Amino acid sequence: MKLNVAVIFGGRSVEHEISVISANQCINALDKNKYNVIPVYISKQGKWYTGNDLLKLENYRDSEKLLAESQKIIINQNSSATNFYKEPNGIFTSRKPVNIDIAFPVTHGTYGEDGALQGLFETMNIPYVGCDVLASAITMDKITTKMLLQTLGIKVLDYFWFYSDKWVSVRDSVVSDIKAKFNYPLVVKPGNLGSSIGVAAVNNDVELEDAVDLVIRLSQRVLIEPKVTNLKEINCAVLGDRDFAEVSLCEEPFRSDDILSYCDKYSGGMKNKSGIGLGKNANSGMSGAKRKIPAEISSKMSAEIQAIAKQAFINLNCNGVVRVDFLIDQNTNEIYLCELNTIPGSLAFYLWEPLGRDFAALTERLIELALKRHREVNNLVVSYADNILKGWR
Ligand SMILES: Nc1ncnc2c1ncn2[C@@H]1O[C@H](COP(=O)(O)OP(=O)(O)O)[C@@H](O)[C@H]1O
Ligand SMILES: [Mg+2]
Repeated sequence: MKLNVAVIFGGRSVEHEISVISANQCINALDKNKYNVIPVYISKQGKWYTGNDLLKLENYRDSEKLLAESQKIIINQNSSATNFYKEPNGIFTSRKPVNIDIAFPVTHGTYGEDGALQGLFETMNIPYVGCDVLASAITMDKITTKMLLQTLGIKVLDYFWFYSDKWVSVRDSVVSDIKAKFNYPLVVKPGNLGSSIGVAAVNNDVELEDAVDLVIRLSQRVLIEPKVTNLKEINCAVLGDRDFAEVSLCEEPFRSDDILSYCDKYSGGMKNKSGIGLGKNANSGMSGAKRKIPAEISSKMSAEIQAIAKQAFINLNCNGVVRVDFLIDQNTNEIYLCELNTIPGSLAFYLWEPLGRDFAALTERLIELALKRHREVNNLVVSYADNILKGWR
């Protein structure tokens, strides 16, 4: 019997469009002989939809029309199986249940990759692909990730962080604290976003203040790091769970500027007038970016990076496919773990292809891992059958 797989994408995140592209690739890759694929689109307003029109990227040009032609859905757990109810044009009485066996979130950023959506599936006891609530929440927050990696003995760049309200109330003292710790150039980042949104290199106080002013509109926590000036970036993906984790080849993404930008990542380095956005390779998402696979680094460094990636993946109890990004200071050859992406752009399928695992096989493995975890978690005792309130008076 075919499994009903709900691929969930979009969402209330600044990386909404990237998710639409990643999910489209994932849906195309899933083996239709094994799975009934149900597209589930979460609009920017947080409403849930399904329908075949959601399968074509060109339909997203006119999102109002797309949503009008799609069917709203709600999730209902009060039935024998997990149901997604289609809601045909608001006629409540004729709701048509669609049983789903597994959720496959291909959502990037806030509410989709940070544990929030994972928590919904957890609460409803729906098996889901990828990292669980804890691993998702930790890795989405760059500051917490650094704190934990340090306790594991994994090198991260030195850092300084503060809450945005502190910036608003005592900006001058924050600036002097930063300058007491670091010299320029520095890098300013939101504590919990992705796709380079809000990330800026700064060379003086004016640039620092401008960059932080922008970041506090995006995130409640601000992260400051020294800038690695002679930088090489290397990424490596890990697939599996804590019992069995495989590492991919290392890749070197190419930058058109100081900071690997949104454009570098998703449009092959092409910039449109707004500076960000949709160049000619936009439809290929992260897989359209320029990169070298395998990266041109020594086999010793590559093995070291793979080992660190795996160590971080296992210790943070990751599951599924996670892309672990590193910053190499070429002056010292020091390797710093930069971040873990628990739902990487294009699910990092291109890092597995050279190893003989195509995108379809990757999705199959991810579903296997999700079902395995679901079985394991369901073996844990979460409540007692006995009602201790029975004798209450
Ligand atoms: N400390 C740093 N020094 C130099 N460049 C950096 C530094 N931190 C980040 N970058 C650049 O900014 C990009 C985005 O930063 P990153 O921390 O990966 O955030 P995101 O989650 O948005 O991808 C990196 O890929 C790299 O090009
Ligand atoms: Mg990054």
